[in-house]
Amino acid sequence: MDYKRFARKQIESIRKTVGDGRVISALSGGVDSAVCTVLAHRAIGDQLRVIFIDDGLMREGEPQEVKAAFAKLGIRVKVIRAAGTFFKALKGKTDPEEKRKAFRHTFYNVFGKAVRDSKAQFLIQGTIAADILETRKGVKTQHNVLDQIGISAKKGYGFTVIEPLKTLYKPGVRKVGRALGLPKALYERMPFPGPGLAARCLGECTPKRIAVVRRACRIVEEETERFKKFQAIAALVEDQATGVTKGGSRRFGDLIAVRCVDSENAVTATATRLPWPTLMTIQKRISKEIPSVTKVLYDLSPKPPSTIEYI
Ligand code: XMP
Repeated sequence: MDYKRFARKQIESIRKTVGDGRVISALSGGVDSAVCTVLAHRAIGDQLRVIFIDDGLMREGEPQEVKAAFAKLGIRVKVIRAAGTFFKALKGKTDPEEKRKAFRHTFYNVFGKAVRDSKAQFLIQGTIAADILETRKGVKTQHNVLDQIGISAKKGYGFTVIEPLKTLYKPGVRKVGRALGLPKALYERMPFPGPGLAARCLGECTPKRIAVVRRACRIVEEETERFKKFQAIAALVEDQATGVTKGGSRRFGDLIAVRCVDSENAVTATATRLPWPTLMTIQKRISKEIPSVTKVLYDLSPKPPSTIEYI
């Protein structure tokens, strides 16, 4: 397939559909929303409003990095700071499904308000073929975002969704990204779950606990950067484990699980055979840089029976 041609055709089609209307796009930091935002910007320039919801559950420096990467492409991104709203919704919740529900509900509320406030007529969405397939099979929550944010066409909001990537799978999306001249860091980004670091934090997601897992994820990403893998993450376990202070007294601290997996499509996965010295460096850095941690574990479980994330 000629991905440059694909991109050109989508740009033309967006231009034709939108006319002189206004379009809103929400960046997630992931490759799908990045590619369709660039397609829309090439098509209609300043008629596009781009937002990024900072939910407080992003990777280290992510909101700033996304903003800077798009600024270099000439695209202005409005960051909506909503961390407080998300942490309030997650407060006291320890059940994984309840946490996912609280996240989803908050996301749709914040996003819905941003979309309505934008006064746009079109929403550009990075739906890909796998989303449609998994929605049909019931693996994923319905991907029709408009319904979920309470902007039903039936209620007369007159919104139209544009999904330029819906015929492609992830590798194809990455190729369109490359054809558009996006930086490699954007089109080769590692998958990151919608609920962000909440998916890597067992137990309550407080700002303090999320900060621990955020730092651990960064260390794991840095130390595994040179290896071929599908995903490399760290997760904070719910309980506390014993450790010992320099003075020799017992203390209880956080447990961090390190997970690095090989996979084609995230449906199945196996633990990556990371070299022992790399694992040791990860352990040393986590123990040194996050003093609350007393134990660092390497997760060997394949998917199935495990999953890649922790909730
Ligand atoms: P699991 O943990 O189910 O993850 O083995 C499979 C892949 O999906 C990502 N993932 C998500 N992506 N929203 C997303 O957009 C989510 O709620 C979500 N949960 C997991 C995960 O990072 C992995 O690549």
